[in-house]
Amino acid sequence: MQNLFSPLTIRSVQFKNRIAVSPMCQYSSEDGFANDWHLVHLGSRAVGGAGLVITEATAVSPEGRISPDDLGIWKDEHLVNLKRIAAFIEAHGAVPGMQLAHAGRKASHNRPWDGGKFIAPDAERGWQTVAPSPVPFIPAEPVPRELTAEEIEKVIGDFVAASRRAAEAGFKVIELHAAHGYLIHEFLSPLSNRRTDHYGGSFENRIRFLLEILERVQTVWPADYPLLVRISATDWSEGGWTADDAVALSAILKDKGVDLIDCSTGGNVAGARIPLGPGYQVQFAEKVKKETGILTGAVGLITTPEQANEIIVSGQADLVLLAREFLRDPYFPFHAAQKLGAEVEWPAQYVRAK
Ligand SMILES: Cc1cc2nc3c(=O)[nH]c(=O)nc-3n(C[C@H](O)[C@H](O)[C@H](O)COP(=O)(O)O)c2cc1C
Repeated sequence: MQNLFSPLTIRSVQFKNRIAVSPMCQYSSEDGFANDWHLVHLGSRAVGGAGLVITEATAVSPEGRISPDDLGIWKDEHLVNLKRIAAFIEAHGAVPGMQLAHAGRKASHNRPWDGGKFIAPDAERGWQTVAPSPVPFIPAEPVPRELTAEEIEKVIGDFVAASRRAAEAGFKVIELHAAHGYLIHEFLSPLSNRRTDHYGGSFENRIRFLLEILERVQTVWPADYPLLVRISATDWSEGGWTADDAVALSAILKDKGVDLIDCSTGGNVAGARIPLGPGYQVQFAEKVKKETGILTGAVGLITTPEQANEIIVSGQADLVLLAREFLRDPYFPFHAAQKLGAEVEWPAQYVRAK
């Protein structure tokens, strides 16, 4: 039986345990560059014993950023600092992963501690947002511009270039961000995708953008490294993307060689009623795993060692991703090991505290 501290091997990559640092925007970059903040933030959680450390949503193009302060990987100059971070994470026994993202209609916002509001295209630091259809996230925000077929092709190319760079920087895992109402999710959901061309309408058409990104990314991403996709398994809204859609999509992604589905929810519909509570999204990781056989990751209000362990032991998911608990406690894996009676290696520098 597997538990939280059982290793997991995907392709040529071994994770020492089932605990991942979930992607978390830091809004601390200038012009997309990683800096000492990212090194220390991600590095501490590798030192703290996580099996997988995933960067925040890393923008594949400047206009794909949620805020002007987001991390990016749209030019080769970004790689110097990213290489240092990936190498540090790996040197401390964790697998370095990168989430690749385009924010679509949710781009061009101020960072949360500056109010988090939309920045108008003509304002300083703002830009014109794009989306599958000219439907704003909330009515108060300007309408995004509908992507043309040529622009879709360009975005796909940006994901490809970003994936090539991620490998060059030393990341061993990429996660395509197809959740939380960002560009790929906007194509998936009928609530944000009103297109009448072959990217809109039927389920097959709405998933096409993701599949085209995936197929093209696979031509540059090393075949022996894992490729993950984060989805929102439901829009929690009438007429939106559903858990059955998530299962159908995951089965197709599995056939196409995706290794693990990271099952989040929501983010595409303002004001959706989400039944928040401990492990409230685990059911979706379980459903996708049981109905398709693909590996899944569970995320969302997983905060205690016992809870995290139970998700793995009971076979609901293969990996747990923690976000806010890792902000409170970078050493969560060490504390969890103590609680659960597992023997794990501490950094030599810290052994006297074990
Ligand atoms: C500060 C912060 C930044 C986040 N940024 C991202 C992100 O870049 N990409 C993403 O997929 N999710 C992001 N999330 C969502 C988390 O990855 C996670 O799915 C969510 O917080 C639920 O997990 P938790 O209850 O363990 O925090 C962010 C969450 C927080 C708290």
